[in-house]
Amino acid sequence: MNHAMSGPHSDLPLDTVLERLKLTAARPFEDARPIPPEVHHSHTFLEHERGTVFMQEWICVGRSDEIEGHGDYLTHDIAGVPVVVVRQADGGVKAFVNACAHRFSRLLANETGSGRKITCPYHAWTYDCAGKLIRAPYMEMKEGFDASKHGLRPLHVEVWEGFVYVTLADEPAKPVARSLMSLRDNIVGRYDMACYRTVMRETMIWNANWKNLIENFSESYHVPIAHGKTFARHAKKPEDYVCGEDSDHYSYHRAAQPSDERPGAAHSANTRLEGEWRRTMVDFCVFPSHLVTLMPDYLWYISVQPAGADQMRATWGVAVPPEVLADVSDEEYDTWVSDFRTYMDTANGEDKPLVEALHLGTASPLLPNGALHPIERNLWQFTRYLARVCVA
Ligand code: FES
Ligand SMILES: [Fe+2]
Repeated sequence: MNHAMSGPHSDLPLDTVLERLKLTAARPFEDARPIPPEVHHSHTFLEHERGTVFMQEWICVGRSDEIEGHGDYLTHDIAGVPVVVVRQADGGVKAFVNACAHRFSRLLANETGSGRKITCPYHAWTYDCAGKLIRAPYMEMKEGFDASKHGLRPLHVEVWEGFVYVTLADEPAKPVARSLMSLRDNIVGRYDMACYRTVMRETMIWNANWKNLIENFSESYHVPIAHGKTFARHAKKPEDYVCGEDSDHYSYHRAAQPSDERPGAAHSANTRLEGEWRRTMVDFCVFPSHLVTLMPDYLWYISVQPAGADQMRATWGVAVPPEVLADVSDEEYDTWVSDFRTYMDTANGEDKPLVEALHLGTASPLLPNGALHPIERNLWQFTRYLARVCVA
């Protein structure tokens, strides 16, 4: 583990940490407190969380339009398990553990790529896109070897609203679409996120616990203060934000910006959104670790996971609806994407020291009580989710 820190919270017994999480989650929102610091810093909780959260839940690995062609793939890592998602000949997707069925060598090294076959670089065992072993050099020398018993290890995968989710669970509790049905039907479905085209995919590593990033993106209270160069330009005031209902599977808050101008408002050719929704942003979290800032003219998503208690790794991307992309000529495209990336880098640069400061501050054994603002309800909702899945 990089950047491993030992501190007063890091070696607490798991039961103590779980008890504190449970007590915090049980408080009514009016008297809510932040996630207990030991939940961010305890090494035993980190292990526990790996088993109860990341080995069980649906984790976003990217966007469906990143792998549109037969054989296109993207790789990810979930709780130390290398994962690959591959587009099938019939247009569906399949997911596998990205490890060879021979002696488990990691198969695909790139984050994205394409190929009708997957060949292991070690002894050239070769699989088709459906994970079937189609070639195993010289294995005819082994009597009784049955290639049909040596395919890739499949994983459950689901596409929801243009996002690809994978779970390591043998028997996932519920399909993503069912868990998110009311979020889709009442709030985000009208945007048609599946039609947005992904224009960038990046990875960042910050020195903070992954939950600090969830906390930060679950509230817009900090936006006017922290995002002077970027999101504060949408000019939404704290009293404009509406926090969504309490759900076991997601949280969101939303607000309309005053201006009909982009960025942040719908393109004139957008026929999907009506009324105030044409200038409304929805910030949502699909528990545990998928964050989306959804706007009428672009979306920004992050899938975050722990790289130890003191470090997080986040894959993020930006996608824009077709009518916005249609305004960008082929000649302008590279510059347009690079300007967009600079904007997002600036926004991330505004958040990074704050998120890392949360991690540094919570390392202290002596702290005041803490409190949440009314528009920080999504943090309380996340704390309750965490307690529900982590505390038996
Ligand atoms: S480990 Fe993959 S072919 Fe041997
Ligand atoms: Fe922020």
